[in-house]
Amino acid sequence: MNDTLLKHTSLSGVSIMGFDCKRIRKDFPELSNGELVYLDSAASSLKPFSVINAVKSFMESSYSNVHRGVYEVALKATMLYEEAHEKVAEFLKTSSKQVVFTPQGTTTALHRAALLIYQNIDIPQGSTILVTGDSHNSNLLPWIRLAQWTKSKIRILPLKQNGIPYWERINEYIDETTRIIAVTHISNVTGYKAPLEEIVENARKHGSIIVLDAAQSIPHIPVDLSKLDVDFVAFSSHKMLGPTGLGVLWINNRLIDKLEPALGGGGTVKDVKPVNNEIKPYWDEPPYKFEPGTPPIIEAVGLKTAIEYLEDIGMEKVAKHEEKLVKEAMEALSRRKRVEIIGSNDPREHRGIITFTIKNTDPDAIGLKLGSMNIAVRTGTHCANTLYHYIKKPRGGIRISFYIYNCIEDIEKLDKALNKLEIQ
Ligand SMILES: Cc1ncc(COP(=O)(O)O)c(C=O)c1O
Repeated sequence: MNDTLLKHTSLSGVSIMGFDCKRIRKDFPELSNGELVYLDSAASSLKPFSVINAVKSFMESSYSNVHRGVYEVALKATMLYEEAHEKVAEFLKTSSKQVVFTPQGTTTALHRAALLIYQNIDIPQGSTILVTGDSHNSNLLPWIRLAQWTKSKIRILPLKQNGIPYWERINEYIDETTRIIAVTHISNVTGYKAPLEEIVENARKHGSIIVLDAAQSIPHIPVDLSKLDVDFVAFSSHKMLGPTGLGVLWINNRLIDKLEPALGGGGTVKDVKPVNNEIKPYWDEPPYKFEPGTPPIIEAVGLKTAIEYLEDIGMEKVAKHEEKLVKEAMEALSRRKRVEIIGSNDPREHRGIITFTIKNTDPDAIGLKLGSMNIAVRTGTHCANTLYHYIKKPRGGIRISFYIYNCIEDIEKLDKALNKLEIQ
């Protein structure tokens, strides 16, 4: 282990007494020289030393494949991999049986949900799948594919001019044909949080399956899955301090035992044997039957440590801190006449994300200029092309997104940079 890593091993957590973003910043090596203003956590979060160390030490001393070997290191790796399932379950108040690790991230987890539905649930021809116009492409394209496969129709809850769906009209879009509702918990453009409880109530009356894209919620606000009556939930490790390459798909207990896996492979079966001239699989228990092949083991170990880090802080405090930053940033941006905020004008409705446009300027050009000043923002259409078509801003916007390591000073630096660029 190098000296820098060793030096910071003890800083894996933060004071439980209060929220000190300056102290937290010391845990993130990419922020160590104080130069980078990282305002792009909605795309991917930075990684703390504790996660880097956990991954490194696992690879150095405990790595092997899991659920296979019976030698010492294999048993240890299996135990650590299992602990990762348990940690995710504890964090979200659910059972580890319901926590399925997938490759990549939310994208693959959502596709896996679509495949599971396609293979296990009757979607009669002419059914409808309800999506919202603010969805990330990852929460649209699997449903477009599923609609093609099942000869169903996509129905879209349209957006208002500010990019927020007409949530108050959602009930007009749900009826007896609605088999699936794909909800984005928090928009990655507007930061607006969907009124999930109301959607669930009506969806359940019509027997619709509810799929929740929680890519921007689980890393930022407390989420209690024991209280959300949805069927599938997807999110990414890399947006919550963990490594890339790992998605999580949570499946409701009312479905999980009935579902046959969409993909089979090593680790998914108790046995495969010839029966009456056929080869028959005997599926293992969940979550294993949904995790074919060698899983993202290293990534899962990293995610467990990432969650421990977030738990040390407390998700209520994470959400409160981001609320404070959003309020400051909205005030700073709203003073500029050329700036137009996408989404609500109320900072409380932004959940760590603010996207804006600047009159007569190209978002990417601004992104490049800010980048040259070491300010990382994300410009363009944010994989939410549909949203930008609805609001008639085809070149997209400029997004700033916060996390635990951002401090008010980051907003001051952004403000100064906008002054330098003469953006009034
Ligand atoms: C709302 C939302 N859904 C899905 C995704 C896709 O996540 P990933 O790239 O980790 O698969 C993102 C990523 O930005 C997102 O913001």
